[in-house]
Amino acid sequence: MGAAGIIGTGSYLPEEVVTNEDLTQIVDTSDAWIRERTGIRERRRASALQATSDLCLEAARQALDDAGVRAAELDLIIVATVTPDMAFPATGCLVQDRLGARKAWAFDLEAGCSGFLYGLVLGGQLIGGGFARYVLLIGAETFSRIVNWSDRNTCVLFGDGAGAVVLGPVPEGYGILAAKMAADGSGGKWLFQPAGGSRLPASEATVQQRLHTIHMQGREVFRFAVRYMEEVSLASLQQCGLAPADIDLFVPHQANLRIIDAARRRLGLPEEKVAINLDRYGNMSSASIPVALDEASRTGQLKAGDRVLLAAFGAGFTWGAAVVRWSKDAGRTGARL
Ligand code: UT7
Repeated sequence: MGAAGIIGTGSYLPEEVVTNEDLTQIVDTSDAWIRERTGIRERRRASALQATSDLCLEAARQALDDAGVRAAELDLIIVATVTPDMAFPATGCLVQDRLGARKAWAFDLEAGCSGFLYGLVLGGQLIGGGFARYVLLIGAETFSRIVNWSDRNTCVLFGDGAGAVVLGPVPEGYGILAAKMAADGSGGKWLFQPAGGSRLPASEATVQQRLHTIHMQGREVFRFAVRYMEEVSLASLQQCGLAPADIDLFVPHQANLRIIDAARRRLGLPEEKVAINLDRYGNMSSASIPVALDEASRTGQLKAGDRVLLAAFGAGFTWGAAVVRWSKDAGRTGARL
C-alpha cells in the first residue's frame, strides 16, 4: 500500500450570515442560551438559488487549485452529504459534470456528520491500493433546507457550507497514518429525517407534520458523542503508536463546544491545539472538518509534517477518528493508474 494524504484544501461559505439575534425573531430563544449551551454565535445560509452542488463546486475549485491538480486528472469524486440536491442522481455526479472531470467516477456518501472521515478512509485506501491517483472528497450541506424553522431545539444549531480536499499519493510517513470507523444503527432514532424515503414517501400529511425536517433528541446524541469521540480517538492514536501529546492539531466535528471541550479535556489536549469554527458556522455536519482543515491550512496553523487528529460523531449513529500527518507541500510520489 502506498501512502495517501491531503494535497489541497478548499472551502465555501454562503454569504448570508444568520446571527443568534436574528433567530430570536422567529423562535423563543436568546443569544445567551445559544452561546452558552452550544458555543454558536452565527451560521451561514445558502441563497434561494444555491443547492448543495453549487457549494461543492466553489470548494472543489479552490481545493483543485490549491493542489495543482486539474479536474480532468481526477479519478473519483465523493460528496459526503445528507442534503443532496435531490435523491438521485448523486450530487457527486452533478459536480463531476460541472467540473468537467470526465475520467472520474462519482457518488454520494451518507454517513451523517462522519461522512468526511468515512470518505477520507475510502479515498485513501483506493489511492494506496493503486485504484486511483487523485480523489476529490467534498463535505457539503444545505441544512437550512431541512431544518424546522419553528423548532428552537434544532433550528439554532445547523449551518450551510462546503469543504473539499484533494487526496493523492504522498511520501511514505505522511498522509493517513491510522483510522478507526464505527457505526451503531440502534442510535438512528435519536437523529433523523423521517420522511421523503421509501418508508414515508412525501405526502400532504408528511409535509403538514413537518416530517421532512431534522428530528433530534439532543441530550441522547450528546451523551454518546462525548464518550465515543474520546474512545475512537484513542484507538486511532494507538493504531499508529502515538499519544495525544504527539498531536499538533485536533480537528473535531463541530456540533457543540461543550462536546468538543469534554473530548479535548479527556484527551488531555490544551485549548490552543483545537480547531474551532462552530462559533461562526454552526454545525455543518460533513462540511465542518474539511472547512476547519482549509482554514487551518490557509492561515498557516497547519504545516507539512504536523500530526492531526480528526474525530467525528453523527447520525446513524456513525463515528470515527483518523490520524494524519499533514501532507500538503510534502511532495508527491510516483504515478498510479
Ligand atoms: O452533529 C452531530 C449530532 N448532533 C449533536 O452532536 C448535538 C448534540 N446535542 C447538543 O448539542 C445539545 O444536546 C443541544 C445543544 C441540542 C441541547 O442542549 P442541552 O443542554 O442538551 O439542552 P436540552 O435539550 O436538555 O434542553 C434544556 C432546556 C429545555 O427546556 P426545559 O425543558 O428544561 O424547560 C429546552 O426546551 O433548554 C430548552 N431549549 C432552548 N432554550 C432556548 C432548547 N433549545 C433552546 C433554545 N433556546 N434554542
